[in-house]
Order: sequence, then C-alpha cells, then structure tokens
Amino acid sequence: MAHLPQIKGVAPRPLDRIGVIGGGTMGAGIAASCLLAGLDVTLIERDEQATARAQATVGDLLAGAVSRGKLAAARRDAILAGAFRTDTDYAALGQADLIVEAVFESMEVKEQVFAAIDRVAKPDAVLATNTSYLDVDRIADATRRPRDVIGLHFFSPAHVMRLLEVVVADRTAPEVVATGFALAKRLGKIAVRAGVCDGFIGNRILSHYRAAVDAMVLDGASPQQVDRALTDFGFAMGPYAVSDLAGLDIGAMTRQRKAADRHPRDRVPVFADRLYEQGDLGRKTGRGYYVYADGKPQPNPDLPAILDAVRADLGITPRDFDDAEIVARTMAAMVNEAARTVADGTALRPLDVDVVMLNGYGFPRWRGGPMLWADAHGLDRILADIRRLSQEDDHFWQPAPLLADLVADGRQFADLNQGTSA
Ligand code: NAI
Repeated sequence: MAHLPQIKGVAPRPLDRIGVIGGGTMGAGIAASCLLAGLDVTLIERDEQATARAQATVGDLLAGAVSRGKLAAARRDAILAGAFRTDTDYAALGQADLIVEAVFESMEVKEQVFAAIDRVAKPDAVLATNTSYLDVDRIADATRRPRDVIGLHFFSPAHVMRLLEVVVADRTAPEVVATGFALAKRLGKIAVRAGVCDGFIGNRILSHYRAAVDAMVLDGASPQQVDRALTDFGFAMGPYAVSDLAGLDIGAMTRQRKAADRHPRDRVPVFADRLYEQGDLGRKTGRGYYVYADGKPQPNPDLPAILDAVRADLGITPRDFDDAEIVARTMAAMVNEAARTVADGTALRPLDVDVVMLNGYGFPRWRGGPMLWADAHGLDRILADIRRLSQEDDHFWQPAPLLADLVADGRQFADLNQGTSA
C-alpha cells in the first residue's frame, strides 16, 4: 500500500535481523512469520523454561508449514539450526534491525520492556509493539528514542493472518513507518496505516459492535441466535463463537483493565463474567458459550439460567429480537464507529476500514467491507436506524457527525476514498 503521502519516496531502514520479545501466542507466530520469509530471528523470553516452550511452539508452527507444503523440510532444519535463536538476555538484541514486543497486555510491563530495549538496541533500530489496545505514544515515552517507536499489530495466528495494522504514533519518523510497510511486504501481509487510539482501527470498531450485540443479549437475544443471524449475514463466525475461540479470559481481562474508565451508562456483559468466573473459558476448557465435545458445538446448558439471573438483577424484562434487527443493530454500530474512526484520522480512508475488517475480522468478503456495504445499503437508512435506537439508549446510539454530514450532503463513504492517494 504505497498510497501513504507521509512515506512517498522515503526509504525504509534495513530489515534482516528481527528481534521478538515474548514467545507466547503472538510472539511465536510473529517469529514463525519472519522465519518463513527468510529473516533472521532472535526471540527473548523470561526464563529458560519459557524459551524452551517458545522454541517448541515455533518448531511446531514451522512443522505445520512443512506439512502444508509451504516450507521444505530441509529448509526448516536449516532455519532451526541457524536463523532462529532464543535467549533470556536482552543484550542478544543488540544487532536487531527491528524489534517487535509481544509480551503481556499491560502498560507497566510494556514500559519496562521498552526501557530495557532502549538500553540494548542499536541506533536506528525500529522498536515495535504488538499491543492490541494500549497507547503507543506512552510506550514510546519509555524510551529516549520515540521517533523509532511504532505499533505493528499482527493478528492471530500471526504466521497465517495477512493483515498488519501499522500504528503511527505522534513522533514516529517517516522512515520508521516506511520500514513497517516494508516488513509487511516482506512477510506477504497487507498493511494498513492506523492512528493511535484505544484499539486502533479494527479492535476499536470490534469493541463497538460487541457492545451492540452484548446489549441485545442482555435485553433478551440468545448468544446462539446472534451468532446464527450474523453467520447467515455472511460473517465467518459469530461474535460468541469468536469469544470461545479467543478465550473468555481475554474479554474479562480487557473489561477489568477498562473498568476504571467506564462510563456509568456503558452496559456491561455480566453474563460473560459469570461464565468466566465459573471457569468456562471457551474452547480451551471445552465450555464457553458453547460446549465442545465430539461433533457440532452445542449451546452451554448453563446459559439460560445465567441470563435469567443477570436480567433479573438488572431489572430487564427480556424481549425478542428478529434476525434482521440483530443484523441492523450490529451493522449500524459498526458503521457508526467506523465513521468516527475515519473522521478523527485513525483510519485515513473508508477503504482502509474495509481492508481491516475483511482481512482481520471475518467480514463477509462478497459484501466488500462495512463501508462499501453501508454505501450500498443506504447511509440514510443506517442513520435512521441509529436515530430510532437512540430513543432506547441515547448514550450508546449517537449518530457519528460524519455519517450525518454525508447523508445531509447526499454523499457516500466512497467519495472520501478519493484524493488521499499519493
Ligand atoms: P501470551 O500470554 O500468549 O504471551 C506473552 C508472553 O510474553 C509470555 O510467554 C510471557 O512469558 C512473555 N513475557 C512477559 N513478560 C516478558 C518480558 N519482560 N520479557 C520477555 N518475555 C516476556 O500473550 P499473547 O496473546 O501472545 O499477546 C501478546 C501481546 O500481543 C499482547 O499485547 C496482546 O494484546 C497482543 N495481541 C494478541 C493477540 C491475540 O489474539 N492473542 C492479537 C494481537 C495482539
């Protein structure tokens, strides 16, 4: 994607030696992705046990690539014998051209890690974070070289998913941005520039439509109905099946982290916390919104009682939602937040939102992306839906000014895609 005016004609920095910090789900996937692209990788973990685990995970990912015919077995052996190393000492990153951090999602931990990277990285090394939500400007402040700091937000599994959000912080140097895009190209990934905010492009929009579906479940829909309505619409998976796949602990941690900043009128999916508290974490425990035994996943039989109790506590009389209403609300929430994301520059163009949602979030490809879908569906209809829903909840359902302006001017999101290419 060479359309970024900011990096037109800017040469990227060299990219041969990659450092990865953290060898969990993402770090191991990022390491494998780089190794498969022929790069040299040094991965840092906390102790010997964790380095051994990371080494084994990366070995498994490469073995998977061999069995899918993507990598020759001899090449895999050569990578494991030469191009890939693990270590517990950050000093091993002294020669790295680009270092990607993929440790726990905690500002405190990331600040410590970036201070440590700052001490060992060579001048002009690119220092990247794979954070999902955290403020990249603040992470950059933990170093004495904020110009070199950038967000590189990979998706899970990182050696398979093609999307990369390149998160440009306030002080990120143009050649560092160019290097982020060059890395994506080297890895065969699709890069989209994103600005700093809570969740960048994709997770910010995801948080918003999750809030809309969770509100419907609080008010009477079942998670299974929501999943069915949205897979019928064309999503690869419904949001509750996705929760089970990611692990319900991830959502619970995110809610805990954000609890202090929560608006009193934000609605909390208490039912998700109840499942988490009883240890139903999704696929990894065999039970979440669904029960995973042999055959087709079945709805968790505990859910109706949990939902009844949560609704009774909140004084909610459950109501029915038809599938069309579920889709209308989900899409209205998605399009509305996407409009805000474009208006404040987090996404440069509506097209970038579509690329992110199609390649990172299972949005139905044949519908072109939420922005293209919105233009075809009619922005006036979506705005009318949001205004109707604001009578029910005028905190969540506030029309994005950009959406209202486009409708007033008889324009579409597609009109905003022009004029920004270099
Ligand atoms: P994880 O818990 O699987 O792995 C984190 C790893 O970091 C652990 O192996 C831990 O031992 C290691 N670690 C912690 N502190 C360390 C330190 N000081 N030095 C070296 N290693 C250290 O977590 P996961 O899922 O891989 O997430 C990592 C980051 O990637 C988080 O910021 C997360 O928000 C982000 N992310 C996660 C995605 C996902 O789907 N899991 C998707 C995109 C981003």
